[in-house]
Amino acid sequence: MKFLLFLALLHFVSSLPTVAPKDHFEPWNFFEKVPVEQVIDPDYNIPAVQDAPEIPMEERDSATHAYSVDIAFHTTVSDMDCLRDHGYKSVFVRALNPSGNTYFDREALNTINNAYDAGLGSEIYITPNINSTRSGGDQISLVYQNLHDNGINVRSIWIQVTSPSNWEAPMPVRIEFIHDMIQRAQVLGLAVGIYTSFYDWLEITGGFNNFSSQVFLWYWHVLGIGADGETIPTLEDFRPFGPWKQGTIKQFGQVEKLCGMIVNRNVYGILNQQKSKIIHIPSGNSHIEKEMIRVGGIGL
Ligand SMILES: *[C@@H]1O[C@H](CO)[C@@H](O)[C@H](O)[C@H]1NC(C)=O
Ligand SMILES: *[C@@H]1O[C@H](CO)[C@@H](O)[C@H](O)[C@H]1NC(C)=O
Repeated sequence: MKFLLFLALLHFVSSLPTVAPKDHFEPWNFFEKVPVEQVIDPDYNIPAVQDAPEIPMEERDSATHAYSVDIAFHTTVSDMDCLRDHGYKSVFVRALNPSGNTYFDREALNTINNAYDAGLGSEIYITPNINSTRSGGDQISLVYQNLHDNGINVRSIWIQVTSPSNWEAPMPVRIEFIHDMIQRAQVLGLAVGIYTSFYDWLEITGGFNNFSSQVFLWYWHVLGIGADGETIPTLEDFRPFGPWKQGTIKQFGQVEKLCGMIVNRNVYGILNQQKSKIIHIPSGNSHIEKEMIRVGGIGL
């Protein structure tokens, strides 16, 4: 059990974007300093990880924006209830684990269901792996197929393009890989967005800006990990880069303790996020009504 917690934490850290090169922060160094005995504290009571600030009461039912956290680990319904009670409206769930040849993370199904039960929306993101024998497009299809086969009505997908050291390939190959993912998502009828930053995008793609269709942006901007490194929880600091004239979601905080989890914090504008959709399934000469959990849709 303790070992699993430790693994889960390591796993989380390995999925973090790296901080902009001009910063001196290094998540790896930061965590290496944490003694193992503290890392495996059952309450995740790690002194070095700061508590996430509370969302101010007056912002919890804002008509204009909402808060979310990213999840790439096992969750329970009570974790999701806790997020809701602290004013969060959705979770961003990682559905593709980049380890090895990449695999669909079945914990995503569990978290999507728990979030739904708690009244939270969900978005899907993937951490692709350019080293995999699966093409970019096939990494998208793997996720889509698994969600679809499990009754999830997925509308959009976010692709993580961070941590330049994970993208060891010539730049044109990287761009082609990203392009292949975007195209496949669009063939599958999904809206698609990229989770990156000004620096990540520049380092990984050279600032590529020639997508043939609309791609949304979820950008991260922190000064360092923890509550002290947060930037303003609005998208006002956005400056255009790559193909983007605006952002849709911003990650303003990384590696903070919240509801016994270690999360990153995000903010986004709310237009029409929906949590479910009634679909009609033909069955003989009648129709069965089934409520399907709807995943994705921020910015659509
Ligand atoms: C791909 O392989 C390179 C070289 O071994 C490595 O540095 C990089 O982290 C790998 N990327 C991923 C996503 O595993
Ligand atoms: C941009 O993409 C289009 C097709 O998608 C291509 O025809 C054009 O040459 C590209 N432009 C540049 C500057 O790469």
